[in-house]
Amino acid sequence: MNAKLLAIIAIVLWAGSAAFVGFKFISGTTLTATDGRAAIVLEHAERDFILTEMRGFLVAVQEVISAANKNDMDSIKKTSHRVGMAEVAGVAPETMLKLPMAFKQLGMSTHEGFDEIGLAAEIGPDAVLDALDANLSKCIACHESYRLTTADQK
Ligand code: HEC
Repeated sequence: MNAKLLAIIAIVLWAGSAAFVGFKFISGTTLTATDGRAAIVLEHAERDFILTEMRGFLVAVQEVISAANKNDMDSIKKTSHRVGMAEVAGVAPETMLKLPMAFKQLGMSTHEGFDEIGLAAEIGPDAVLDALDANLSKCIACHESYRLTTADQK
């Protein structure tokens, strides 16, 4: 086998694996759940990580409403930064590959939405509640379409 042939084989293999990673990045790893939603198949630690982030979202929603009621704009800025885009950096690349593109987009958009809630705090409680209202529709949209599961379903 000559060097040129080896190089061609290497390029074909590289292109194949790059295409596979690209395909995975868009499709993620899912199956259809009993209720018709797409269930994303993850390792336990990955599922626990995302669900912990979710509970953090719910805590943030409560904190934002409570602070808006008290006109406490500083608390709103702190809370929304905690669950804003800054939080996305914590997601492992291998987990990212398992998440379908639409899930990633909705997830990013929700984190961005919290940064927007933080900016709305510069204006006042009404602007904050408007921004929170808009962001909650993303929580609803994602929950309507997706579930999280593990290979052994525990
Ligand atoms: C990108 C998709 C997505 C977005 C956006 C999203 N969630 Fe979730 N969330 C999920 C999925 C998937 C589950 C798991 C549901 C299942 O497996 O039945 C979940 C579960 C949860 C849970 C349950 C956590 C647990 O421990 O079981 C809470 C609470 C939650 N989400 C709150 C929120 C809130 C609040 C928002 C918006 C601020 C939000 N989520 C936005 C996808 C999303």
